Amino acid sequence: MQNYINRDKIYVENIGEHDGKTVTLYGWLYNKRVKGKLAFLLLRDGTGIIQCVMGKNDVSEEVFERADKVTQESSIMITGTVHADQRAPGGYEMHVQDFEIISLAQEYPITPKEHGTTFLMDHRHLWHRSKKQNAILRIRHTIIKAIRDFFDKDGFTLIDAPVFTPAACEGTTTLFETDYFDTKAYLTQSGQLYMEAAAMAFGKVYCFGPTFRAEKSKTRRHLTEFWMVEPEVAFMDLDGDMDLAEAFVAYIVQRVLESNQEQLKVIERDVSKLEAVVPPFPRIHYDEAAKILADNGSEFVFGDDFGAADETIISNQFDKPVMVHRYPAAVKAFYMKNDPENPERALCVDMLAPEGYGEIIGGGQREDDLETLLRKIREHDLPESSFQWYLDLRRYGSVPHAGFGLGIERTVAWICGLHHVRETIPFARLMHRLYP
Ligand code: 4AD
Ligand code: MG
Repeated sequence: MQNYINRDKIYVENIGEHDGKTVTLYGWLYNKRVKGKLAFLLLRDGTGIIQCVMGKNDVSEEVFERADKVTQESSIMITGTVHADQRAPGGYEMHVQDFEIISLAQEYPITPKEHGTTFLMDHRHLWHRSKKQNAILRIRHTIIKAIRDFFDKDGFTLIDAPVFTPAACEGTTTLFETDYFDTKAYLTQSGQLYMEAAAMAFGKVYCFGPTFRAEKSKTRRHLTEFWMVEPEVAFMDLDGDMDLAEAFVAYIVQRVLESNQEQLKVIERDVSKLEAVVPPFPRIHYDEAAKILADNGSEFVFGDDFGAADETIISNQFDKPVMVHRYPAAVKAFYMKNDPENPERALCVDMLAPEGYGEIIGGGQREDDLETLLRKIREHDLPESSFQWYLDLRRYGSVPHAGFGLGIERTVAWICGLHHVRETIPFARLMHRLYP
């Protein structure tokens, strides 16, 4: 066997650079067909799949017999000549000169037949190998890279927020509590409060990491562990926040369209829907959104937050993401600034993705007045002592500031057109899922 531990290995995605040459590929057997004197081996290497054609007369008898023996997902090594072939899926196929089985796989549990979701989620560690899951997680990779690039190019500094926290940020009902020596700690629900501190030190910042919520709801939009990116900017108001969110989401979608045409094809995404996602995005007042619901026969009660079904109705009215602003302050978090023109309302914004996907962004302008913030912390029954550091930000040079949080998994679900967020993260954590 050839030495395959080198960085210069040839991968299927770059096979076009080797047209006419003899190369060795390493991977797994995706599928096979043996027809008389020909064996068709589909090699999968994580970057793509290529058909390798082996003629009985071109290899030794021993090598040809391996085609009979090799099982789905066995690890394999194939040497052969690359040929451009328009009929082949990736535009190339390989004519085999040598074929070795590195490790013969046992009977593989995931077959081309239909499997139930529970079965597939139980085999998530293997399910990643299938075409569709591979495509989704590659698109997730592009989205994350685009997020980082967007902020890095715009002068933001990445500031990592802690995972263990002393108090709630997004309400006490979804806190994961854990022992922390002789006290209690909570897994972070959001890095926002720390980003507010960082914005006062660095001007424009963002954090990007896992966040945790003990969501007892079993919906297709909720995970207990999800990834969130949270920018925060000093000297920015709600309008500035919406401008930022709009440019940001348009950029992410554009990058996926540039980088992932192949993957979008695999998952059969209607790309015309994504191509429509260009600024400006509609911006509507909460009252206007409430009117849309009333006109569409929703049982929504004015003054409440929108439920998932309501968000679906609202977002279905637009072919771009819609930003809904100025929700009633009573249904929003303690840190939001009230609208000076209508103190019952918060200077907040939610961005709802089109095609019924609902909220992907929540954010807004923060309360910057010390006394008002202190009053809100008390009204929300939050432990004042845990928030002294946060109040310091209003004691020492308070400024208008704003930011938002974008949930990665909901964004991936929307961009990929998936029904459920469980397929958007490598290993989903849900109320009833902690395995594998
Ligand atoms: O609207 P949320 O709760 O906002 C915050 O956490 C703010 N502190 C963010 C900020 O202003 N820095 O959450 C933000 C986003 C949601 O819009 C949604 O995309 C995602 O996080 N999200 C979830 N995604 C998956 N599963 C869950 N349980 C989620 N909860 C929120
Ligand atoms: Mg929200």
